[in-house]
Amino acid sequence: MTDRKATLTFDNKTLELPIHSPTVGPDVIDIRKLYAQGDVFTHDPGFTSTSACESTITFIDGDKGELLHRGYPIDQLASKSHYLEVCYLLLYGELPTAAEMEKFENTITRHTMLHEQMTYFYRGFRRDAHPMAIIVGVMGAMSAFYHDSTDISDPRQREIATHRLIAKMPTIVAWAFKYSIGQPFVYPRNDLDYAANFLNMCFSVPAEDYEVSPVLARAMDRIFTLHADHEQNASTSTVRLASSSGANPFACIAAGAACLWGPAHGGANQACLEMLRKIGTVDKIPEYIARAKDKDDPFRLMGFGHRVYKNFDPRAKVMKESADEVLDLLGIHDNPTLQVAKELERQALEDPYFAEKKLFPNVDFYSGIILEAMGFPTSMFTPIFALSRTVGWISQWKEQLSDPAHKIGRPRQLYTGHPFRDYVEVEDRG
Ligand code: ACO
Repeated sequence: MTDRKATLTFDNKTLELPIHSPTVGPDVIDIRKLYAQGDVFTHDPGFTSTSACESTITFIDGDKGELLHRGYPIDQLASKSHYLEVCYLLLYGELPTAAEMEKFENTITRHTMLHEQMTYFYRGFRRDAHPMAIIVGVMGAMSAFYHDSTDISDPRQREIATHRLIAKMPTIVAWAFKYSIGQPFVYPRNDLDYAANFLNMCFSVPAEDYEVSPVLARAMDRIFTLHADHEQNASTSTVRLASSSGANPFACIAAGAACLWGPAHGGANQACLEMLRKIGTVDKIPEYIARAKDKDDPFRLMGFGHRVYKNFDPRAKVMKESADEVLDLLGIHDNPTLQVAKELERQALEDPYFAEKKLFPNVDFYSGIILEAMGFPTSMFTPIFALSRTVGWISQWKEQLSDPAHKIGRPRQLYTGHPFRDYVEVEDRG
């Protein structure tokens, strides 16, 4: 915080607005008193210029293409750390000591089972339901099963809810998958690590042994890590807004998952792979690039562009390397979707339209290729994103509740409807 002030002059008024300086990133003009002192609102649909909270968790420099979690760059975390360590870092602010890590891992591992009654809940859904529909429902329903962790005023209950959500999400997501393909639910195994346990719950069946490949488990873990948190994105802001009313953690996280489902956000990985398949062969790429540039065509290159990154999404670089590794391991050397993706990326990056608008591949551009190679259908891509992002949502929720400045979120509006008018009886309406 500094003593600097911005001066706003309009009509016959002059207001002094405090300027706050962050550790990194642009300064922030504090307009909290604007309405009280100036009788005006600011208007910022899509929040392109609005900071809604103070946070110490994640920082993105969109121009540099940099993503930091508690100061640590994502590429270092993706190559040197692992998902549960990143969860600890996001939740508690520092990398854990070996003893802290062991304790945390132990706690998460021992909370992976779901209340048995929840299996009946799954059975109420149609088998052809999108797994995200099931997941949003089941996450919301957790508040009906875990009453002892819904009192947000109790720090211990908040902690238990946090651990439960991180621990149970792989089971919730894997079971949504198993249900959709008509296979029996596979229970979690405490001898496997977080990612391997998830793969086992998704792909093992009672009829035969299934051994999780360490390379695939590592790739899965990296996908979780790359999606763990991303500052005040749409789903995280949804969680914070839901939480601002005092709603319980399970309800808030379910709200975040519902927001994530949209194709402009977490649904983009599914939409991207479907687009790459539809393009099919490299000779069709120019046609699709032309469509993406045509203002009269609603088509957009999925997996391209980002509200904040105006440079390479640093997660996309790691994801691209991972895609090569996984396909190599699986002996898939001439994957047509990967060929289309690489050529589409090359052509788009050379095109002045994408260069001028600073549109680069985002994290979703390559993740679908890896997930498909692992055996996941496209409908599971967004659920896996939701699983990974749960720690980000819950870390931001936790931070919000401990912020003394937090209050119920209540945006205002630029009203352009009718001014006051009297009710007209039906017989008098022309
Ligand atoms: N293909 C073609 N043109 C695009 C694309 C794209 N993927 N993305 C943006 N543009 C164009 C827009 O048409 C607009 O052009 P204009 O200035 O001539 O009107 C300009 O670039 C700016 O785009 P906006 O939509 O205003 O940017 P915004 O920040 O609102 O949108 C978004 C960001 C939603 C991610 C957008 O780039 C998009 O729809 N991308 C495709 C979907 C996608 O991949 N989403 C995943 C995001 S990452 C994540 O959630 C993990």
